[in-house]
Amino acid sequence: MTIQANNNLGVKIAGCGFFVPERKLNNLDLEKMVDTSDEWILQRTGIKERYLAAEGVGSSDLAVHSSLQAIKSAGIRNEDVDLIIVATVTPDYPVPSCANLLQDKIGATRAGAFDLNAGCSGFAYGLMTGSQFIINGSYKNVLVVGVDLLSRITDFTDRNTCVLLGDGAGSVILQRDEGESGPLAFTLGSDGGKYDNIIVPAGGSLHPASITSLENKSHYVRMDGRAVFEFAVNKTAKVIQEVLQQAAIDIEHIDYFLLHQANLRILEGVSRKLKIPWSKILVNIDRYGNTSAASLPILLTEAVNEGKIKKGQLLLFAGFGAGLSWGVTIWRW
Ligand code: UT7
Repeated sequence: MTIQANNNLGVKIAGCGFFVPERKLNNLDLEKMVDTSDEWILQRTGIKERYLAAEGVGSSDLAVHSSLQAIKSAGIRNEDVDLIIVATVTPDYPVPSCANLLQDKIGATRAGAFDLNAGCSGFAYGLMTGSQFIINGSYKNVLVVGVDLLSRITDFTDRNTCVLLGDGAGSVILQRDEGESGPLAFTLGSDGGKYDNIIVPAGGSLHPASITSLENKSHYVRMDGRAVFEFAVNKTAKVIQEVLQQAAIDIEHIDYFLLHQANLRILEGVSRKLKIPWSKILVNIDRYGNTSAASLPILLTEAVNEGKIKKGQLLLFAGFGAGLSWGVTIWRW
């Protein structure tokens, strides 16, 4: 459901940061691993390279780097963080949460911590969840992280998925704002009937890990690419229109669109459908691939670091992915 945000108290993104691991995998490397080509990947997805975490590294390790940057740029101390929300589908362990590990590793001694699983929509969900604690006055500093090590659930013999995915982390600090910053309207949505469009079939309570699940490779992610592509373009365009209508804002007044980076052609499709000038759509999929929950905060941090985003501007965040799920918000910077 699309709702207008109650902005009695403003929320600002006071700091942000991102981190990707060192090892870079380009399309030529992938040509040596599966039956694919640099040309196919570039034409069909727009991806040139992505980063993969080394063995022995977990999601919380990437999240430490992005979160310390966000905390530093917000000008607070680690122990000032009141709450940590980590959006991820690849926590270090099924139990405990990645957020618990992150809390300890950064020494956020006062913070509560939990994970949120909304696939590639995770950061959009986390941003709106975290904002509620600021808007209702409960907390002063909320750390929202999007992190995924999709390489850990990727079958590197499956060309349908392995060419798309990359590892990364992005973090923001949310704070109260006396001005007009924050969400103007948002929607969080789900179409759980399409749960198997993007799925890791084994390792959960229904089909726990077993010798059979290993043999069937059902602990890896499987995706109906065409169905998800269609959903991503059509649903994202429709929901963006709904949220704009709720906020009573014309599309041409949005300064930048931060859309989940899953495929360049999805971004082009949304841009065409809604007649959004290409210069307003932020793009970095060529350099990182699809980093799932990390994609939006990485995109945001790069734009902030480049000085693109200015006080008072209107940003539109849109996440979509496994669930199927989506989350869209219009945010005044
Ligand atoms: O984060 C949210 C989750 N994910 C997404 O949003 C992904 C959404 N889907 C997509 O981005 C696209 O559907 C893909 C990139 C996954 C696939 O692109 P497509 O244009 O939809 O290709 P397709 O699945 O229709 O396959 C076209 C052909 C097939 O061959 P035939 O049947 O025409 O002979 C595939 O077998 O391309 C083949 N193919 C490949 N060829 C070379 C599929 N993957 C590859 C590959 N390299 N990596």
